[in-house]
Amino acid sequence: MLLHLSTWPEIEAYLSRSRTIVVPVGSNEQHGPTGLLGTDWLCPEIIAHEAQKTADMLVAPTFNIGMAQHHLDFPGTIALRPSTFMAAIADWTHSLAHHGFERIFWLNGHGGNVATMEAAFSELYSEASFAGRRAGFACRLKSWWELKGVFKLATQQFPTGHGSHATPSEIAVTQWAYPEHIKAANYAPQIAPTGPIREARDFRARYPDGRMGSDPGLATPEKGGELVRLAVEGLIQAVAEFSAERPPAERVDA
Ligand code: NI
Repeated sequence: MLLHLSTWPEIEAYLSRSRTIVVPVGSNEQHGPTGLLGTDWLCPEIIAHEAQKTADMLVAPTFNIGMAQHHLDFPGTIALRPSTFMAAIADWTHSLAHHGFERIFWLNGHGGNVATMEAAFSELYSEASFAGRRAGFACRLKSWWELKGVFKLATQQFPTGHGSHATPSEIAVTQWAYPEHIKAANYAPQIAPTGPIREARDFRARYPDGRMGSDPGLATPEKGGELVRLAVEGLIQAVAEFSAERPPAERVDA
């Protein structure tokens, strides 16, 4: 079930049987000479949209702009600074909690989002802690490659040249979903360099074509399909476990 293609009475009815929602979250940023700018938000969206076809799962609109300041020297990148991103995560969460959602599962597609999102969750929980009350909701962050078996499969598919940015696994997932947008280039070097991530000017100097440690030429739509199928299974399982989690009873002496 997709929230943006539903009506409010349908969401109200969903809330009578489930308090869980999945939010795909990513980033709109350069992915080397052949990776789509939307790769990091497309991957979790593709997986979540596939999963809701077979499970009773509500999927929110994709939060498609993230913490990508280091990619800003490549055209097409749109970034939120960490403080803006945290404020937006808080407002999305409060909106959903306001309707009664108690389990908010963020399916992430961008490693650069993780630190900021975890800090955003801590801020949200702090509001409740300092007020001496329960938050009334819980957030879980999982990147799609952390879903059961997915990273292992990617390692088997791409034993060399996987790297950490513009990886063949994420590009394969987008190739499977959008085969009409597959691009080609001559990569030089074939496997990109690795190193630290700092400001945008430094990033472009270190990684001239935008890749980090990867050879995206290894990606195929077929490999992407294998990753999507496994990730869908893993997402359905992870969301079910999260939904079944119940807060412990209050302390009797509290
Ligand atoms: Ni990416």
